Amino acid sequence: MAQKLALIGFGTVGQGLVEILSRKKDLLQERHAYRPQVVAVADLHHGSCYDANGLDLDQLLDAIARDGGRPGALTSCPGGQAGWDSMETIRESGAEAMVEVTLTNIETGEPAVSHCRAALQEGIHVVTTNKGPVALVWRELADLAASRGVQFRFEGTVMSGTPVLSTAAEALAGCEFARIRGILNGTTNYILSEMEQGRGYGESLATAQELGYAEADPTADVEGFDVLAKVVILANVVMGASLGVGEVSRTGIAGLDASEVAAAPAAGHRWKLIGQVERIGERVTASVGPVALPLEDPLASVTGVTNAVTLETDLVGPVTIVGAGAGREATGMALLSDLLAIHRAG
Ligand code: HSE
Repeated sequence: MAQKLALIGFGTVGQGLVEILSRKKDLLQERHAYRPQVVAVADLHHGSCYDANGLDLDQLLDAIARDGGRPGALTSCPGGQAGWDSMETIRESGAEAMVEVTLTNIETGEPAVSHCRAALQEGIHVVTTNKGPVALVWRELADLAASRGVQFRFEGTVMSGTPVLSTAAEALAGCEFARIRGILNGTTNYILSEMEQGRGYGESLATAQELGYAEADPTADVEGFDVLAKVVILANVVMGASLGVGEVSRTGIAGLDASEVAAAPAAGHRWKLIGQVERIGERVTASVGPVALPLEDPLASVTGVTNAVTLETDLVGPVTIVGAGAGREATGMALLSDLLAIHRAG
């Protein structure tokens, strides 16, 4: 049976998933007996389309590429019925799983929180890379999913397709986590690496945006809000805390002096934006801020868009995971791994 999908949002990440589904169609079928069928796509800018028998993935991508981001580009997709908004798409498309990939809003979580609530209420699985709903109302959504017998999965919210959350939940199940510390934002790590090579801050940020690493509003990256959302997710989901976004101290990289960043290695240091969660007794605290790490620190050698996180466990000791932290394909892959997990659970 095909797994019917509705995509809510069709920006970099949603397109990344559709590219992977198209390119890996045969492998997914042969190796995993997985046949995804995108029945609906709704995007605030590109418009929407629906076909109960499945939309043509390459035509969806062509519609965006051809019209160069013209508003409503999806409505001209052949074979599809156009005109639904996101809520109609969730309720009417008959999808088994909703892929929520609208833009992250870490203050209100909207519109993603409403999309997730509506889908879960309808008994539709939700997979998302959107950090807003998970950082703000994970417990509520996880309980709602459980009460409806469906899954709420969000692997890509932390380190994109590099498996941190599933590693903690599955491979490290049974461990307790005393501290989690890492480089959790690809954009700022890329900018800091470039600045160290003498490139300007603005120029490096512009490239990070072109490469699809940065948030729609890159303030979220450079001011540390993106890492803040990720440490809250790690604190609550992995360490069992109940941390609110307002309880995390946060400093971004915008205040760092370019010449200081470039000169640091000669003095035995490297500037990194570090997110950390720590349990002290019953209390879990979290922080985000730039740190001049000694070059011997394993995190100091993690450069570019690569991220790394160390999970300090009671049973295995420190476990460090290194890999892509952002990007179209890497984040699309996170959605695929969640969809495959739903498929396997059958
Ligand atoms: N803007 C984020 C980053 C995307 O640069 O890491 C992945 O969450």
